[in-house]
Amino acid sequence: MLVTGATGLLGSWLVPELVRRGAQVVALVRDASPRSLLVSGGWLDRIACVQGSLTDERLMQRTMAEYSIDTVFHLGAQTLVGVAKTDPVGTLEANVRGTWMLLEAARQCAVRQVIVASSDKAYGESPNLPYREDDALRGRYPYDVSKSCADLITSMYARTFGLRSAIVRCGNLFGGGDLNFSRLIPGAIQSTLREESFLIRSDGLYVRDFLYVEDAAEAYLCLAERLAADTTLAGEAFNFGLGLRLTMIDLVEKILAMMGRPGLRPTVMNNASNEIREQYLDANKARTRLGWTPRCHLDEGLRRTIDWYRAFFAGQSSPASLAALPAGQNA
Ligand SMILES: NC(=O)c1ccc[n+]([C@@H]2O[C@H](COP(=O)([O-])OP(=O)(O)OC[C@H]3O[C@@H](n4cnc5c(N)ncnc54)[C@H](O)[C@@H]3O)[C@@H](O)[C@H]2O)c1
Repeated sequence: MLVTGATGLLGSWLVPELVRRGAQVVALVRDASPRSLLVSGGWLDRIACVQGSLTDERLMQRTMAEYSIDTVFHLGAQTLVGVAKTDPVGTLEANVRGTWMLLEAARQCAVRQVIVASSDKAYGESPNLPYREDDALRGRYPYDVSKSCADLITSMYARTFGLRSAIVRCGNLFGGGDLNFSRLIPGAIQSTLREESFLIRSDGLYVRDFLYVEDAAEAYLCLAERLAADTTLAGEAFNFGLGLRLTMIDLVEKILAMMGRPGLRPTVMNNASNEIREQYLDANKARTRLGWTPRCHLDEGLRRTIDWYRAFFAGQSSPASLAALPAGQNA
């Protein structure tokens, strides 16, 4: 199995689960940051690693051919909305060109199946919520457009070339190991541990759906298993989320309460632009056609996540090390 984006948040949970289930995993690793949970957990010693970028056509073809890849989990992407605004070309290169390079290599090397990470962002702004899989993909902003494109290209490869591929559209993922402190949950936990008010970049009323990372990893595995057994799923997209409609403020206040700091109220900056105001998912198709159900609801997922960051920062030893990790821009 090939996993792209293996050192990211989702890859750091999916790869160990694949190894535990006895899979032979090859990871495409562009940046093997020592802080990645996959790297610090010693997992790179237990799998094969190919160093390089998705956009390297020869590398993608060589990897699939030399390792006789059967299944690909394509998670690799430039995932930060703020970075996508400052570097739209790099984001489109990684997310769109990187996806067609990967799918083309999979087609040429007769890979059996590919599971592609799209996102709820691929739907763009919509007056009709929750999102359902048949809704049009209307990304408007750089990251969202990159995901709409990657999603459509995947379905093109399935329908035109018969490449057995399926698409995952998740809400916001959260869990231990995410060191992108520009994301709301890691950022809010980090600020709270520093005894600082969390800066909410938007007006705090943006609405999002969420999914705990271990449930997301399970969703990818479930889809791969079902796709292997049922070719009618090829080209299909599936929403995965808890079906939540949480505002940023409500979520931050929940985190503060769970961390015993309810008085540390967030500061609303109200200077976000070019972002979808409201999004949440209908995951009924995944429940009925795949038999998928999330195991971890929001409170339990947050509890595990907070525990992970407490241990992580305790291991980093001092408050100075807390300050050493960039806070980035918050959601
Ligand atoms: N995190 C979320 O809230 C969320 C929600 C919905 C969908 N997704 C999608 O799920 C997937 C995994 O998300 P994540 O949170 O683990 O992301 P992440 O940012 O934590 O990790 C992304 C990984 O992709 C790698 N990568 C980036 N550009 C690359 C390139 N050109 N070549 C090779 N590797 C490259 C990075 O090094 C990193 O390991 C992504 O495709 C993302 O768009 C994420």
